Amino acid sequence: MKLNKEYKEITRDIINNEYFTALKNDTHHGTNRYDHCKRVSYLSFLMTKLLRGKSEDAAKAGLLHDFFFGNTANIEANSYLNHPKTSAINAKKYFSINDFEAEIIETHMYHYALVKKALPFINHDDKVIAKDYKPKSKEGYIVCISDLLVSIFELGFFKVRYSFCLYLIFIINIIRY
Ligand SMILES: [Fe+2]
Ligand SMILES: [Fe+2]
Repeated sequence: MKLNKEYKEITRDIINNEYFTALKNDTHHGTNRYDHCKRVSYLSFLMTKLLRGKSEDAAKAGLLHDFFFGNTANIEANSYLNHPKTSAINAKKYFSINDFEAEIIETHMYHYALVKKALPFINHDDKVIAKDYKPKSKEGYIVCISDLLVSIFELGFFKVRYSFCLYLIFIINIIRY
């Protein structure tokens, strides 16, 4: 309860901001980007508490790690590799974040950079230098790992469930007619 209260105080200004709430309109992993950012932020906050890190910086950077507008497809600034920079620019424009928090945002896709390095045939048009995305702090690694864990959960829970429901409706319709 005490942690919940502390988290709400740290993030209140961002969570209620009109530009941040606009993320509710953007689909992300079968859910919306507003909820995704909140999940990553809260998990990062708890992990930094556990590991004695800078929990306020992690909570704020976690909230703003995907702070970009519109879809990821067809918009260069929102691509897998470019959206961390875009999000950091937006975060600085709309909120007073420090350089440490901006750097956490800019390096949160290190997990993707490592996967790309190991499996270069995935999105092969994207050229990546993994060390450019390497977090420079414990909090940077925590937000990166939180993003990965939350994304896996969301893709499994929302996307697979959504596809399963569609298939079910399809099969029920075949049986009925
Ligand atoms: Fe991201
Ligand atoms: Fe994310």
